[in-house]
Amino acid sequence: MKVHVRKGTLTEATTEAAVVTHFEGDANVGGVAAKLDEKSGGLIEEIITRGDFTGRLNEVAVIYPREDLPMKRLVLVGLGKRADFSLERLRGAFSKVAQHIRNLKVSGFSTTVDFKMVNLPLDQTTEAVVEGITLGLYRFTRFRTIDREEIRDISSMTIMEEQEGSIEIIRTAAKTAGIISDAVLFARDIVSAPANEMTPTRLANEAMESARERNIKCTILEEGEIRKIGMNALLGVASGSDEAPKFIIMEYHGGKRSSPVIALVGKGLTFDSGGISLKPAEKMDQMKSDMAGGAAVIAAVRAAAELGLPVNLVGLVPAVENLPGGKAYKPGDILKSFSGQTIEVVTTDAEGRLILADALTYAGRYKPAAIVDLATLTGACVVALGDHVIGMFGTDDELKREIREAAALTGERVWELPIWEEYDELIKGDAADYKNSGGRAGGAITAAVFLSKFVGEYPWVHLDIAGPAWLAKDKPYIPKGASGAGVRLLVRFLRNRYLSNRMR
Ligand code: BES
Ligand code: MN
Ligand code: ZN
Repeated sequence: MKVHVRKGTLTEATTEAAVVTHFEGDANVGGVAAKLDEKSGGLIEEIITRGDFTGRLNEVAVIYPREDLPMKRLVLVGLGKRADFSLERLRGAFSKVAQHIRNLKVSGFSTTVDFKMVNLPLDQTTEAVVEGITLGLYRFTRFRTIDREEIRDISSMTIMEEQEGSIEIIRTAAKTAGIISDAVLFARDIVSAPANEMTPTRLANEAMESARERNIKCTILEEGEIRKIGMNALLGVASGSDEAPKFIIMEYHGGKRSSPVIALVGKGLTFDSGGISLKPAEKMDQMKSDMAGGAAVIAAVRAAAELGLPVNLVGLVPAVENLPGGKAYKPGDILKSFSGQTIEVVTTDAEGRLILADALTYAGRYKPAAIVDLATLTGACVVALGDHVIGMFGTDDELKREIREAAALTGERVWELPIWEEYDELIKGDAADYKNSGGRAGGAITAAVFLSKFVGEYPWVHLDIAGPAWLAKDKPYIPKGASGAGVRLLVRFLRNRYLSNRMR
């Protein structure tokens, strides 16, 4: 979707639809809505006083004005109670109104983004509006062949702004939000793609493709190289599949030469059948999304480069398929990890932590200032926190604080779980150093504790995105299915850390 920013008032917008917001409980319409109301002979006041539109959160009403206004439709959207207003609500409301407009088979609309009366900075409200609309309109339709002509998309939106001094702020914010939202859509596309297409090879190609023309250096370690350096935990998982494993490395140098690297690590299981410890058939199809962490990392590196963030970044994605083939690794097998530590496989379905163990150790090569990993790691995390919350674990309080702060701004829910040393005992191996499962109790935690053994001394946060990566039901601006969880969070974290207040 194209976003235009034009100087002028919404009342003079020649458009299919002009979108106006309204707070629930406000007796009068304010701002540009008041001007539109006046020119339309009180149509907006009327729909509100008659009670047909109250401004309830995400409520939408369409009015057809006559001669005096240039737009074909006035579309009202409720923002809920003024006191409860937030950027998250703004994203949702604009998503809902954009979806409504799309259902009217309209391909473009105009709106304003100035919410001065609620005391939020213009760049933030602009970003929220653009983000909400872009993310809310996402659909994965590539494989549909029937009735394709029914699939209509909104191709452009125009933001109207009267004040000359605000235009540049809005343009910049809209561009930033466009880059970040496109990265989220890119991640969603990768996660939505079926596993017969999105193999480790294809995932590596997506990373290569993303790097091209973006000032990113992408290196793919092939199976031979992976074997040579000794990432045997990763290879163990890959052994049951005919698909070749890939270790994806994306390097972006936007910062000073002397400034240390931030390492992002993402689980790239293109399909997790469970392996020999086969998963039940029910919902196994959802395991095509087990590379959501990897997709988020590739997308975040891509967005950071496009935004030109002054950060040195490396994205690492171990990409493999977990199948029970004739060469598959088995329960009882012992793997010698890249770190040299040995792991006893008690279940081949706890594979994510095995490939991540090697990737986390590899991250140490960069002596990173921080490591953040994202993984659809455990069903136990979903049991503990539900579908909408990212489980956070980590060794560094400052890094955890930064992630929490970023999450508060993007609306992604993050909640910390402990990795106290009492849990160590649960993953102690019998014949080897560790075992790859600590059993049911505290399953999300013991997975994180396992990972911690391969991190080394670097500040580290692990984000378990098993819940929010794939949604069973629509959320206001996140349609069901692949959500792109973590992309906005990572980019926000980097922006907060590397841009001065004024530039964020
Ligand atoms: N990819 C799964 C975790 C998962 C489950 C993600 C449901 C999203 C939705 C992971 O590889 C896995 O199978 N974990 C096991 C670990 C267990 C065998 C120790 C789990 O959570 O059951
Ligand atoms: Mn598994
Ligand atoms: Zn998995």
